[in-house]
Amino acid sequence: MEVTYYGQSCFGINIADKSIVFDPFITDNPLSKNTILNNIACDYLLLSHAHGDHLGDTMYFVNKGATLVSIFEITDWASKQGAASVHPMNIGGSWQFDFGKVKMVNAIHSSGFPDGTYGGNPCGYVIQSFEKTFYYAGDTALTYDMKLIGESFKLDFAFLPIGDNFTMGIEDAIKAASFINCNKIIGMHFDTFGYIEINHQEAVNKFKHAGIELILPKIGETFSI
Ligand code: NI
Ligand code: MN
Repeated sequence: MEVTYYGQSCFGINIADKSIVFDPFITDNPLSKNTILNNIACDYLLLSHAHGDHLGDTMYFVNKGATLVSIFEITDWASKQGAASVHPMNIGGSWQFDFGKVKMVNAIHSSGFPDGTYGGNPCGYVIQSFEKTFYYAGDTALTYDMKLIGESFKLDFAFLPIGDNFTMGIEDAIKAASFINCNKIIGMHFDTFGYIEINHQEAVNKFKHAGIELILPKIGETFSI
């Protein structure tokens, strides 16, 4: 499975012949502003919550024909902006898409649009694709609910926020990896702003010490997993 990192919590993943993009904060991200949106294929956009550093270029992709999958309040907002293809979900629900089965799971955070509009609850996703099963945590604190994910799924890898201040930091993310029973973690939500800058080597070493592989991709990097 091919994964491309576009900065903050934005990843593009190819599953079979579909392109899935998570949390497309690209144009306004000072670290990824040279990325050309037009080069990013997107059949499905999965959005974790409405904060600006996740919502980002959502309407760009939706207006180009991507299907927006998110919590009801966000898809409703997008429909009112003219989105042609949305799939509303809510926490605890699953749906079989043509790239795999998606379960919307809990995230402990907040969610409002940049203009103050209510964004519903924040969420994460577990995706059982035809190739791999993985968890995309969105912005979240460490929560005991993550144990349910570890009990219910055999994860091949997981995307966890590690930048601290707004989400889990490194120590809590290591605990989260054990709760979800997964030893291959892709870090996200780090370095974009001063509040969330991390020491990469220290982070990788702490995970390694706990027997967990931490991948910290470079922006623009495509890697196989
Ligand atoms: Ni947030
Ligand atoms: Mn965020």
